[in-house]
Amino acid sequence: MASVSTPPLTRSNSRSMSIDPSKLVPMDKTTALQGTGDFNVVFVGAGNIMFGSDEGPWNHSFRFEHKLGPRLKIVALIDPAVERATATLQKKRETFVRSAYENTRVYKTLDDFISNMTPNQAPRVFVVGSPPMFRGTQQPGRDVEMQIVKHFPGVAIFIEKPVATGPSSEIDEAFKVAKFIEDSKIICSVGYMLRYLKAVQMMKKIIEENNLTVMATIARYATAYEAIAKSDWWDKSKSAGPIIEQGTHFCDLSRYFGGDVDITTVTAHSLEWYEQAGKLSKQVIDESLIKEENRIPRVTAATWKYESGAVGSLTHLVALQGHDYSCELEVYADGYQLKLVNPYVQPVLYVRQPGNDSEETYRFPDDDPFFSEVSVLIDNIEDIEEDPDTARILCSFEDACKSYQLTWAIREASEKSRKKRV
Ligand SMILES: NC(=O)c1ccc[n+]([C@@H]2O[C@H](COP(=O)([O-])OP(=O)(O)OC[C@H]3O[C@@H](n4cnc5c(N)ncnc54)[C@H](O)[C@@H]3O)[C@@H](O)[C@H]2O)c1
Repeated sequence: MASVSTPPLTRSNSRSMSIDPSKLVPMDKTTALQGTGDFNVVFVGAGNIMFGSDEGPWNHSFRFEHKLGPRLKIVALIDPAVERATATLQKKRETFVRSAYENTRVYKTLDDFISNMTPNQAPRVFVVGSPPMFRGTQQPGRDVEMQIVKHFPGVAIFIEKPVATGPSSEIDEAFKVAKFIEDSKIICSVGYMLRYLKAVQMMKKIIEENNLTVMATIARYATAYEAIAKSDWWDKSKSAGPIIEQGTHFCDLSRYFGGDVDITTVTAHSLEWYEQAGKLSKQVIDESLIKEENRIPRVTAATWKYESGAVGSLTHLVALQGHDYSCELEVYADGYQLKLVNPYVQPVLYVRQPGNDSEETYRFPDDDPFFSEVSVLIDNIEDIEEDPDTARILCSFEDACKSYQLTWAIREASEKSRKKRV
């Protein structure tokens, strides 16, 4: 029978690619960061990830407000949809966090900001939450990271996942952007927030402390499609499809445990929209408006070899109704099964280890990985040189490029093997 426990709290080596779970403090149990002076931030994108929506718990502005308290100053909001950005700011100015937004100026483009910036607007960090089709390349208009690094040397960047969504022929460019960022030595974090879950860090700790070698990762990601009302999400020409846009979180988490993937080994199959088993009854968008060749698969199942020899697999499903997703990741090592269930809603970790055939159950109430990723980023910007114990950023741009590459390999393998339409 499974027993229920709270996670053991021990310290970990903060220089490793993991964080002591006890250091991941929920937002309501932390106080705003001490320190003096304004902390200037530029937001690129005024959409859901930055300001929240009904679709999920993401909302970066909310976490920045809590982490920085009255020090937070959003000096610029860059978004070509000026009306949306202005309306969003207006709402913020009517709340108790007004001081962060009262002097925020809206700019259509990064170039506008660069040309008109005043010295007291000099930012400490850019938070990039624009659509990935406009970033991750070296091409004008789609090279926001390189422009930021060139014009604001030394300034930190936070970038949302995925790093890009252009054609797969552009993946090399994303790696070049990664090299450019790495050479600049700036602080850069990519928003694979599931890495910051306490449950995930506990899995890492078990692996590190027991000196384990991962043998397999098994990921299942079942979307509640009824809740997805954004028509772009259903259109591969806009979103790049559900593996690249969404399954990417679990591809990244699989890689976080399994390591680098031998991309030549990726195989995949899909259930397509035109197959009998792929018919959906509760889509809230009108799929007939999307070109047939751009409609997304309902199921994608992939396997691959990691460079270590371990085996990875992912099944992504567009099958559930209602609101909550059903997602699980299992990690196996000699004698061990670490099973992460429901990471988006209420993470539970089941651990089976040598000496006991039953699982231990760990729950993590109030954990907020979105807050933890923001918190770790700001701690690094504020005091990385003074405090060698500052928790390390868990996803670099290069690491995120590797996850992006894996998602493209899965999409292409599934398209090659798909059942042709009769
Ligand atoms: N980590 C997560 O769980 C999570 C959740 C939601 C979204 N995201 C990611 O965040 C990113 C944005 O998603 P969203 O849901 O906020 O989209 P959104 O459509 O709600 O918002 C995007 C905003 O960016 C603006 N924009 C367009 N082009 C721009 C440009 N060149 N420069 C600046 N702004 C531009 C749009 O006008 C829009 O206001 C995507 O990469 C998405 O995958 C991540």
